[in-house]
Amino acid sequence: MIAQSGLAVAVARLEAAGVEGAGRDARALLAHALGVGEDRLTLHLRDTMTPAQQAGFDAALASRAARQPVAQIIGRRLFWGLQFRVTPDTLDPRPETETLVAEALSRPFRTVLDLGTGTGCILLACLESMPLARGVGVDVSPAALVVAEGNARDLGLADRAGFLLSDWFSAVEGSFDLIVSNPPYIAAAEMPDLAPEVRDWEPHLALTPGGDGLDAYRAIAQGGGTWLVPGGRLLVEIGPTQAVAVSALFAAAGLLDIRILPDMDGRDRVVSAIKPSL
Ligand SMILES: C[S@@+](CC[C@H](N)C(=O)[O-])C[C@H]1O[C@@H](n2cnc3c(N)ncnc32)[C@H](O)[C@@H]1O
Repeated sequence: MIAQSGLAVAVARLEAAGVEGAGRDARALLAHALGVGEDRLTLHLRDTMTPAQQAGFDAALASRAARQPVAQIIGRRLFWGLQFRVTPDTLDPRPETETLVAEALSRPFRTVLDLGTGTGCILLACLESMPLARGVGVDVSPAALVVAEGNARDLGLADRAGFLLSDWFSAVEGSFDLIVSNPPYIAAAEMPDLAPEVRDWEPHLALTPGGDGLDAYRAIAQGGGTWLVPGGRLLVEIGPTQAVAVSALFAAAGLLDIRILPDMDGRDRVVSAIKPSL
């Protein structure tokens, strides 16, 4: 089949499956099947697909029609201008998380701890842009840590990034200039309302700590004081309705200079705080 005809059929198939942005996703999957960059796809639309390309495209469309996220199907996601491998064991890095990275990089640091590292996207983006820094990423998911380690190697950052199986701070040693985290924060009651791409395909461990969605912040606020150097910074991503609750947890833990930062859409997205200097 000619690629352009395949694309038209694909868009109709994804629309029929209820996929939002069917045209965008069909183009991404077609480019993947053809082995070309999305920016080059137009140049290949008159090509006749080989049987292998056709089979790959069909399989990818079937997965997408079953609502598997595009990043899992093609196995990668661009974040902070860097390519990250993504699997069903890792959260697909979100653009709004770049707000946290931008804030982290607004001041220099030598050591950084990333709690709940997933693909390693926050830690590795921070290290990429701060050439003298070293960091540790922790996760309770051994499978996610394998992906993060692979991403560190692929990005040439493995000599400055260590990874650790840890329930938040439990296996962490030392102290850090900066602690960052995008923890699971969706309340248990909100889980059924998530889009199928998220609810049915992304790891639940990455989405929700259960209950009111704040348990990870409780653990991180408690430990922040112990694992930060005096004057060190703690930055967490939050859900847009959680700023007041997370700020209160940080204040109760004795952290200072608590600030709430918006994402590109103007929604509350990051809470930052500082450990008091001695
Ligand atoms: C929202 S995902 C964030 C992943 C990545 N940092 C990002 O921003 O794309 C949360 C991560 O926290 C991890 N996690 C959940 N509970 C944890 C715990 N008790 N200790 C450490 N990591 C945990 C999950 O496995 C998941 O990788």
